[in-house]
Amino acid sequence: MSTDRLNKVLRLMRFEGLDALALNPGPSLVYLTGLHFHLMERPVVLLIPASGEPVMVLPELEASRLEHARLPLRAFPYADNPATWENAFRQAVQAAHLNGVRVGVEATRMRFLELSYLQKSAPGSNFEAADFSLSNLRIAKDREEVEAMRQAARIAEDALQATLPAVKEGISEAELAGELVVQLLRAGSDSELPFSPIVAFGENSANPHSTPSDRRLKRGDLVLFDWGASCQGYISDITRTFSLGEPDGEFRRIAEIVKAANEAGRQAARGGIPAGQVDLAARQEIEKAGYGPYFIHRTGHGIGMEGHEAPYIFAENQQILEEGMAFTVEPGIYLPGRGGVRIEDNVVITGDGAETLTSLPRELIQL
Ligand code: CO
Ligand code: CO
Repeated sequence: MSTDRLNKVLRLMRFEGLDALALNPGPSLVYLTGLHFHLMERPVVLLIPASGEPVMVLPELEASRLEHARLPLRAFPYADNPATWENAFRQAVQAAHLNGVRVGVEATRMRFLELSYLQKSAPGSNFEAADFSLSNLRIAKDREEVEAMRQAARIAEDALQATLPAVKEGISEAELAGELVVQLLRAGSDSELPFSPIVAFGENSANPHSTPSDRRLKRGDLVLFDWGASCQGYISDITRTFSLGEPDGEFRRIAEIVKAANEAGRQAARGGIPAGQVDLAARQEIEKAGYGPYFIHRTGHGIGMEGHEAPYIFAENQQILEEGMAFTVEPGIYLPGRGGVRIEDNVVITGDGAETLTSLPRELIQL
């Protein structure tokens, strides 16, 4: 497995004409090494040369963790005194033959801290952005990754079930969100949640990016949850909408339309078609019911280690879906000032269609 992933990254590097990669903590580093490091005041850098053993510069304190890495790594540890760090970088750069070559970095992750040490130790090298190839590296999930995502979905769904009894008239969005966080951890989520859950009541549910407030729940309100769990670094991202007591007739109607749009999107999902077709399939259901102008965002986004990654599900996206790609299908209808319904599921492309990893009912359930 580990060498599979290393071979994959080496192929990508050859394709892009890169002689090496320099990664600091983030999903790509976790993907390749299985090691979780945080960005901190001390640099941690993985160097992958096109040939030869990958090396890692890291604090002495962390060096023993390399024994558990998915691939053999040569450590260049440094001590507490920052004056010694440059030397560790110089030795690592030498071992990875990094001088005078093209080195790919993640433009959105690499910091001035790490880059300046690298540039000083390898003054003849060119450092360039390799984000695009790295996002392709992780785009098709293998079985182990899909299993972690399946579990992340199950944990999130268990947590919501455990939270629903707390939905009562008078509770605030923030209180209910707090309860959901507790239940996510209790159900077995990694302690680092993929994002803070959204709990939105009534008119707030019409805002797709609402944040939990002190708004209190009233009868007749819609109750929207957008939440997720994390399992071995892989995430789920789910949305369900309920009502407290009898909902307005129009809310019932839009809930039916959104459910049909969600189903159409998930059914359209399969390998060999452009990602945009999934968006169109969902969007058509909403447009033909006359609510097109109230579906104000794209149908979905890729998920895996990150909440937003390729493939993005928007109408114009011509990227061809392939087995192992995972993304959300999350159509919604938002009536400004009144309320909104969104139904978000997680799917992964299989050999003959798509598997939906989420299973909670999609009807507008009255609590
Ligand atoms: Co979501
Ligand atoms: Co989402």
